Amino acid sequence: MTVLATDDLAARGAARIAWIRSRMPLLAAARDDLGRSRPFAGHRIGMSLHLEPKTAVLLETLVAGGAEIVATGNHGSTQDDVVAHLRAAGMTVFGSRDDSLDQHHANVASVLEAAPDILLDNGADLAAGIVARGETARVLGGTEETTSGGDRLRGELAGRVPFPVIVINDSLLKAIGENKHAVGQSVVESFMRLTNLMVPGRRFVVAGYGWCGRGVAHYLRQLGGKVAVVEVDALKAFEAALDGFRVASLLDLADWGEVFITATGRPGVLGAEFFARVADGAVLANCGHFPWEIDVPELMAGAASVIRMDEAIERVELPDGRHVVLLAGGRMMNLAGREPKGNSLESMDLGFLLQTLSLERIATRAAALAPGAQPVPDDIDREIARRMLRAMGADR
Ligand code: NAI
Repeated sequence: MTVLATDDLAARGAARIAWIRSRMPLLAAARDDLGRSRPFAGHRIGMSLHLEPKTAVLLETLVAGGAEIVATGNHGSTQDDVVAHLRAAGMTVFGSRDDSLDQHHANVASVLEAAPDILLDNGADLAAGIVARGETARVLGGTEETTSGGDRLRGELAGRVPFPVIVINDSLLKAIGENKHAVGQSVVESFMRLTNLMVPGRRFVVAGYGWCGRGVAHYLRQLGGKVAVVEVDALKAFEAALDGFRVASLLDLADWGEVFITATGRPGVLGAEFFARVADGAVLANCGHFPWEIDVPELMAGAASVIRMDEAIERVELPDGRHVVLLAGGRMMNLAGREPKGNSLESMDLGFLLQTLSLERIATRAAALAPGAQPVPDDIDREIARRMLRAMGADR
């Protein structure tokens, strides 16, 4: 047996990436295809996205297709061993885990100074930077990973981005594969990992029955949880009822639920009225992107005391003798605590193949696309669904 050396950063990065790469079959097949067609030859792709092992496999795939890479991460999430590995593989990568916010902005500027002609963006930082510099003419197009970046492109940047940007988050395939099934699995895993509590027989309330909420509700029930849903959209509430969940208002469920999980993307879903009625000992957690779904400032303002019980667990004593338990300070629970796993490898394989084929579309057919933000072309969604079905052996 070969024991991999882990005594230097690049080797440690390489060792960690090996497992991830081995479980991303869609990207592996894409590396073979793109290695033959080389759609990115002569193109420089500028990237701003979390620098972690799964992203490294995406970058390797783009390099196999002929791309030159100039990359940086997001503030605070850069993994230094992954960066060291990517640099050793010949990519230009800026940033490290301990960068200040100013340094992070300088890293983004360095990516733009390298004059990429294709952008792989996260939160529209690169697109906004190119617009601010007046350098849009040399950009062929790009992709945007997030909803918030898509909102920026359609809001403050509307009409100012003359090149096409494919918004990965607007894909139906991603909604099914990631928001529903991967978030569902990882939120349930995170509840168990953070609290070590039992799921079977426990009463859960899921607020929001959109893509993420559906997944969370379904996976909790699969493990024997009793699940109720709170939903403001009548059609989705109807769907939840037909899916067999109890559907009621948050205040009606306040003294029924033992665990409340928000998945709405909206602020203040669990607020003062709810805190006044919630049952003693209830656990409050959030899986939405922003840390605002549980009104933590309101909760803390009314608290008699707060006891930190674990890295991601706070016991909040209320003046009338009840207490609630807050997970991860109300931040995204599946990225919190020791060794957060995030979403499954397969869902990221799928999401990064969406990135790869969308970037290929930009490299080969940008002129045929409309300028500005747009959804993933339907044929790409369907092609990846077919490939994923084959990779899963869904017919066996
Ligand atoms: P979605 O738009 O499909 O669903 C949100 C649902 O919440 C909608 O059905 C809406 O009617 C409902 N809602 C809004 N306000 C409500 C309220 N006050 N009470 C009850 N229901 C309410 O959005 P999706 O895709 O489910 O995303 C939800 C959040 O999760 C977003 O913030 C998203 O960014 C985040 N997200 C988190 C991930 C993670 O890894 N934790 C991964 C992907 C998305």
